[in-house]
Amino acid sequence: MEAPYWKQKWESGDIGFHLDRPHPQLVRHFSDVEPGVVMVPLCGKSNDLIWLIHQGHRVVGIELSRVACESFFAENSIAYNIREEGAFTVFEGERVTIWCGDFFSAPDAAWTGCTALYDRAAMIALPEDMRRSYTTEVIQRWRASPGAPMLLIAVEYPAPEPMGPPFSVTESEIANLYGQAFEIRQVNRARDPILSDRAPKFSGIEVIEKAYRLKKI
Ligand SMILES: C[S@@+](CC[C@H](N)C(=O)[O-])C[C@H]1O[C@@H](n2cnc3c(N)ncnc32)[C@H](O)[C@@H]1O
Repeated sequence: MEAPYWKQKWESGDIGFHLDRPHPQLVRHFSDVEPGVVMVPLCGKSNDLIWLIHQGHRVVGIELSRVACESFFAENSIAYNIREEGAFTVFEGERVTIWCGDFFSAPDAAWTGCTALYDRAAMIALPEDMRRSYTTEVIQRWRASPGAPMLLIAVEYPAPEPMGPPFSVTESEIANLYGQAFEIRQVNRARDPILSDRAPKFSGIEVIEKAYRLKKI
């Protein structure tokens, strides 16, 4: 999905992926991660960022949409400064920085010091060719971070043709893309009631949400 698609979603308020509370799998499977700096690619205005801050982490998000970035700070009453860095606008608040721009061209400065990564609805937001580039980028950025943890939340459903976003991302695709660089452990598997029962395009299709803990080798 290209930038205009997502910007238009945010501008029209068509953001069914946004949850009004922290994701339950984040609360369950990230509580043991030592306070550090958590990279959250394609972060939207997620309430997960707030949960992470309350756990003692600093958070670095990367998000295309300026509407999403501004809404995050306004809705959570967090004061921020803005600066321009290359093609990015950097929103900087206490314990949270969001780089507003394209994930694939984020500068080294965005990644410097990150100790953990949280991916909810980032990888699954991207079509197959972009998922390959996305995971290559993550691996490349973390080539010198053995032991670094990642929590990845993905969905899987039967689809002869791509139906996303959210795209169906299978366990075997995750193993193929990340298996050389990370140990991968599935930590949860459950029917996704919101997508299965309420999303018209998934009518009659069972969507399974799977959470994985990964550890950089
Ligand atoms: C499905 S949403 C998930 C948002 C967030 N992770 C959440 O759980 O609410 C995907 C987000 O990725 C952003 N996005 C898509 N492509 C991007 C890119 N190339 N660089 C940065 N952000 C991107 C979209 O604007 C959107 O907010």
